[in-house]
Amino acid sequence: MSIGIFDSGIGGLTVFREIAREFPLTDIYYFGDTARVPYGNKSRETVIRYSTEAANYLKGFGIEALIIACNTASSYAGELLKSQMDIPVIGVIEPGVEMALRYTENGKVGVIGTQATVRSNAYRKLLEKSGIQVFQKPCPLFVPLVEEGMVEGEIPRLVVKQYLQELVDSGIDTLILGCTHYPLLKDTIKQLYPHLKIVDSSQAIADFLHREGLRFTGEGKRRIFITDESESFEKFKKMLVGNIPLEKVELSEICTL
Ligand code: DGL
Repeated sequence: MSIGIFDSGIGGLTVFREIAREFPLTDIYYFGDTARVPYGNKSRETVIRYSTEAANYLKGFGIEALIIACNTASSYAGELLKSQMDIPVIGVIEPGVEMALRYTENGKVGVIGTQATVRSNAYRKLLEKSGIQVFQKPCPLFVPLVEEGMVEGEIPRLVVKQYLQELVDSGIDTLILGCTHYPLLKDTIKQLYPHLKIVDSSQAIADFLHREGLRFTGEGKRRIFITDESESFEKFKKMLVGNIPLEKVELSEICTL
C-alpha cells in the first residue's frame, strides 16, 4: 500500500518520520509546499485551494491513503478532501483529540497552533463535545524559530514561556501541539513544564493508523517533493529522515488557477 503525506513545508516531516518508522514497508510520497509556506496566516479559501492541489498531485502516484500532515490544512480543508477523494483521508485533528482524551485526567486541555488553526476552532469543537475545557493560544513565533533551527537554548525557552505560561496557569494537564512544526520544540516545552502530557500529531497519527488496522505493505519506497528549494527544508529533512533526495515540482504543474 502507498500513502501520500502533505504539509505546507517541513513540519509534516515529523509525521513522515513516525510513519516510516512504524510502517517500514509502506511506500511514502511526501509533498511539502515550500514555495507557498506558511499556510497558517492564509485565508480559508487559499488554504483549501493549496490543499486540494497538493492532494491531487499526490493522487497522481496512485496513493491509497492521504495524510494531511498540517493542522491548518486539516482544519480548513479536511472535511472537503474527505468528501471529495475516493481514498481514506486522515487529518491530524481527530487523532490528536483522541490522544488528548486518553491523556487528560482533569479535563483541561491546552491547544496551540497557527492563527488559522486556532481561529478555525477545529480542536475546540471536537474536545468540547467530550466535555473538555479548552484553552487555546496561537503561537506564531514557533514556526519561524523551527524553520531557523532555533529549537534549543535561551531564545526558544523565552518564547515558549511567553506563549504557554498563561495556559499552564489555567491548570491544563495536557497540551496538544496543533502544528506539525511544534514537535521540534517538544524538548524545550518538556524542560519548562515537565508535568504536562504532550500530544504530538505525528505519534497521534501513527497510533490512529495502527488502531484503524490499515495494512500498509509495499516496497518501502520514499519520495519527497517540494515546490521550492529551501535550505532549512534540506537541513531538517537530513535530521529527520536522512538522505532521501528532494525532487522539485514546478507550481505550474499543480496550480489550478
Ligand atoms: N505545519 C503547519 C501546521 O501544522 C504550520 C506551518 C504553516 O503555517 O504553514 O499548521
